[in-house]
Amino acid sequence: MWYNTDELSPQTSSMDDVEKIKQKVDVVDLLSGYMILKRAGKNFKGLCPFHSEKTPSFVVSPDRQIWHCFGCQKGGDIFSFLMEYEKIEFYESLKELAQKANITLSGGLHRNENEKKREEIFSVNAIASQFYHYLLTEHKVGIQALQYLLETRKIPKGLIDKFNLGFAPFNNSSLSTYLIKKKKYQPSLLVEAGLATQDRGGLRDFFRGRIIFPIHDARGNVIAFSGRAIDTTSSGPKYINTRETPVYVKGETVYGLYYARDEIKKQGKALIVEGEFDVISAVKEGIKNVVALKGTALTETQIKLLKRYADKFLFCFDTDIAGNSAQQRSIEMIEKEGIAAGVIVPPEGKDPDELLRENPSEFKKALKNEKNIYDFLIESIVAEFDSTNADGKRKIVDKTLPLLSGIENEVVKEHYFKKLGNIIDASLDSLLRQAAKLQSKQTGVAQASPNKKTLTREEMVESYLLSLLLQSGSIPTMVNATEVLLEGTSLSTPVYQKIYKALKDESLKNPRMSLQEFSKSLPPELHPSFDKCCLAPIQEFESDEQYADEVKKVALDVKSLSIKAKLKDLSSEIKTLEKENGEENEEKLLKLRGSFNALSQKIK
Ligand code: GTP
Ligand code: MN
Repeated sequence: MWYNTDELSPQTSSMDDVEKIKQKVDVVDLLSGYMILKRAGKNFKGLCPFHSEKTPSFVVSPDRQIWHCFGCQKGGDIFSFLMEYEKIEFYESLKELAQKANITLSGGLHRNENEKKREEIFSVNAIASQFYHYLLTEHKVGIQALQYLLETRKIPKGLIDKFNLGFAPFNNSSLSTYLIKKKKYQPSLLVEAGLATQDRGGLRDFFRGRIIFPIHDARGNVIAFSGRAIDTTSSGPKYINTRETPVYVKGETVYGLYYARDEIKKQGKALIVEGEFDVISAVKEGIKNVVALKGTALTETQIKLLKRYADKFLFCFDTDIAGNSAQQRSIEMIEKEGIAAGVIVPPEGKDPDELLRENPSEFKKALKNEKNIYDFLIESIVAEFDSTNADGKRKIVDKTLPLLSGIENEVVKEHYFKKLGNIIDASLDSLLRQAAKLQSKQTGVAQASPNKKTLTREEMVESYLLSLLLQSGSIPTMVNATEVLLEGTSLSTPVYQKIYKALKDESLKNPRMSLQEFSKSLPPELHPSFDKCCLAPIQEFESDEQYADEVKKVALDVKSLSIKAKLKDLSSEIKTLEKENGEENEEKLLKLRGSFNALSQKIK
């Protein structure tokens, strides 16, 4: 995936704004706010935030103001980075960067329909959350709910305000009426935002008789709500959530992230709990790096989201994470992402909210005594069965081995295999063999790593040549030298051939060309490969002579590979013609043999 702002925006926004922002916001400064970048020659390098890796392949060029990941092949400029990182649309990235650059966007800006819709939903949601909050804290319809929060749930007024808790009254359409009559919103928008439903009787508020928790994205937009019944004795679910909308996809956010993100980043650790009240009670006790899953298993999207801020997750659940297969999948995914995971086990199976209310110091003690997730899993799975008989052992092994086999570090893996072996009195050897059996059963689902397209030798050598040329201190000289060596042989990969030709033409016309200008003259479809060559890591050379020698060597490689490819084509053509044996082929064959001999000569 490659975003190029030039392609995304020409008709939809003023290019002036884009250029102004690009001049003011430096790519290295911006990205450093989201990841750790270290200088590497002319460029900067870091671990890619968009895929899992242990050695850095994410490169940023301050000269060209672009970034590229050689692992997952994503790349672009400051706008595309934010779009990718924050999962936002171009217009939102423009707004955010304009704010950073202190630039007021010019009026001639048009968002696309999708972006407009998102903005509208954010806006109506924000007003709705104010409305609910007002009813809870200032209006008499909210008295009972307010009392419940303050007294029963022991939530201080400060936190009711901080989390913008609200109350949706029992009436059918308090919110709808307010938004339409007072705030002039279109009824259709309320339905699209999931705030109301349309039936024969007209609009009906979605949340009624519920305490309201606004759900924010990491940047503070209200994307949805969850509502807890104020009267849990009546029928209906205890909690309901906004249905999916253009701004809310289930399983892609965690509750509380907007409030917790800075603290999670600071500690490098996220405490993951189940419910909204667990989050608020933790914050009340000064535990601020906390988010909630709202009663579901952690999804891959949520893992990636949290991974931006933390390399360690601490789970605090009252449900059975060992027995639940969705949770087990989450644990496997976390291991793959290289995240350390721990579990906090509150005493007496209480949920964090209850314990924090009744005995906060007990909770904090549990927080300090976190268990490694694998210790926890082994212990809780073993406790489920009778580990003294064969049947119990089989069940334990069936449940634990798939998880333990996923451990990336071999030493850690062996540690847990041994631990399991000791507990159920089985040898390490038999556990390893059983694990291998399970593994071979699963080979059908082995995950192929994406984006690992194998390059042909020609592609590798040609892109290396271009990297050398483009990153050299004197491009025209190097291009000239290459031209002489290639003797008119063209590169065999179409993209590189085109870039090389454009580079050759430009350096002839304009010996003092700048790469910045040159890149603008290239057609957009060549930009990804061009940027890649500008950023590709190349070794350090001790002198200009050595650099020139390398260019020569590689240019000759390119030439001979290209000639060999042509020879191969020619010889197969000759063979087919010879088989056909026709009279009229004779002349053609003669010509082909001639070219073949000439080329063979050249390669020598
Ligand atoms: P309280 O009684 O309000 O303290 O709830 P809890 O946090 O103790 O609830 P519970 O342990 O039952 O559930 C944990 C979380 O799962 C809740 O905070 C909700 O986010 C979610 N949840 C609970 N019940 C429902 C439900 O009926 N429907 C949905 N969609 N989510 C629920
Ligand atoms: Mn609870």
